[in-house]
Amino acid sequence: MGSHPKDVEITDEHPKTLLLQKHADYILGYSKKKEDYEYTMTEHFRVSGMYWGITAMDLLSQLHQMNRSEIMDFVRQCQDKASGGFSPSAGHDPHLLYTLSAIQVLVEVDGLSEVDVEGVVRFVAGLQNSDGSFSGDQWGEVDTRFSFCALATLTLLKKLDAVNTEKAVEFVMRCQNVDGGFGTRPGSESHAGQIYCCLGVLSITGQLHRVNGDLLGWWLCERQLPSGGLNGRPEKLPDVCYSWWVLASLTMLGRLHWINAEKMRRFIMATQDPETGGFTDRPGDMVDLYHTLFGLAGLSLLGESGLKRVNPVFCMPQYILDRLAISVQIIST
Ligand code: FPP
Ligand code: ZN
Repeated sequence: MGSHPKDVEITDEHPKTLLLQKHADYILGYSKKKEDYEYTMTEHFRVSGMYWGITAMDLLSQLHQMNRSEIMDFVRQCQDKASGGFSPSAGHDPHLLYTLSAIQVLVEVDGLSEVDVEGVVRFVAGLQNSDGSFSGDQWGEVDTRFSFCALATLTLLKKLDAVNTEKAVEFVMRCQNVDGGFGTRPGSESHAGQIYCCLGVLSITGQLHRVNGDLLGWWLCERQLPSGGLNGRPEKLPDVCYSWWVLASLTMLGRLHWINAEKMRRFIMATQDPETGGFTDRPGDMVDLYHTLFGLAGLSLLGESGLKRVNPVFCMPQYILDRLAISVQIIST
């Protein structure tokens, strides 16, 4: 322990058990402090923040404490009438990243019937390029994250046939590297976040057999450091959000048991702040909603009691996908 140049030390001072009530209080408090500096500073990704908070609250079985009509009013204001896409908050530009978050929130609070669904489908389909890739918005940047956002959004809306899924898969496969991983675009280095997105696309389209599960599973397991935490690429510090990107990827590959689950759990528990509630990226840092969701979701994949089961592709409670009869491909080993 501690001998690795890019790792952190976990000590007995760090929390060891799940502080369920603390986390619910943290998220609830966050959504109520609208005049707060931190709240103001997060306007440029607000609808994603809502998705992180609402999903975390549902995993904690505390969703009933959130104000549905306030959520619906906010999300409705984020839909751009002209393009049909969603922006992070009213007055900002629509983007696939926020469109997925908005649809996830709407599905979670059962509010899809109250927005222009056809507009969303038009927006997403309009962003597919001739090589099968997706641009995030009208400015054209291409990234495998956006392929995932597009296909996940359409799957939740049951409109996957609005795009060319074969070409979408073809593009994702061109982003695979010799180490088995995937990057943002063809030729870019493997990164655990992009791997999650690419496997998500393959899972949604039933094409997971196209990856070498042993090779990629090995690369993903190598992300675990002596502290138990995972990094997203070689030579990087561990970060609790990678317990989501990596564990979800290993789950899709049917190789979650390749990770040292006990050490992983210990690391995630140590990223809780026992005073404020919430999770940090690594022990001792400041908590935020993003790491709080991915800490909880990672623990859910590991089967932590007291948490609802999470779906490894959509990062939403499994019961919601069951309710919609949406199933994803998982490799069985
Ligand atoms: C790392 O980001 C994470 C990624 C690249 C994956 C992001 C995935 C999405 C936006 C798809 C939607 C996700 C869900 C769960 C529905 P980073 O910028 O923190 O990377 P860094 O650690 O290299 O800085
Ligand atoms: Zn992180």
